[in-house]
Amino acid sequence: MAVLHIENRDNLELPVDASVSILTLLVRSGVPIPNRCGGHARCGLCRITFVAGLAHASPRTPHEEHFAREAGLPPEVRLACQTRLAGNAVIRIGQSRSPD
Ligand code: FES
Repeated sequence: MAVLHIENRDNLELPVDASVSILTLLVRSGVPIPNRCGGHARCGLCRITFVAGLAHASPRTPHEEHFAREAGLPPEVRLACQTRLAGNAVIRIGQSRSPD
C-alpha cells in the first residue's frame, strides 16, 4: 500500500487514498492543515511541498494552474485540495524547503 509521509508532522505516515484529495486525506486523519476556501483553489492556505514522489501526484487542475501562475508557485508546491496521490510521497505542510 502506498504511503504519504509528512516530514513536519512528526514524520507521520498515512495510507494513500487515491479517491480523495490530499486535503481530505489529512483532514479525515485529524492532521491540522490551514484551509479556508472549501477546497476551491482560492485561499492558497493548503499549500504542501513535495520532498519526494511528485511524479505520483495528479496534474494541476485548471483552478490550481491559475492559482499557481498568479502566486508564482514552483512545481513542487501544490494545493492539497486540488491534488490526489497514486503512490508513495514525502511532503511538508506549507511552502517550505526546511523542516519547521
Ligand atoms: S483549501 Fe483553499 S486553496 Fe486549498
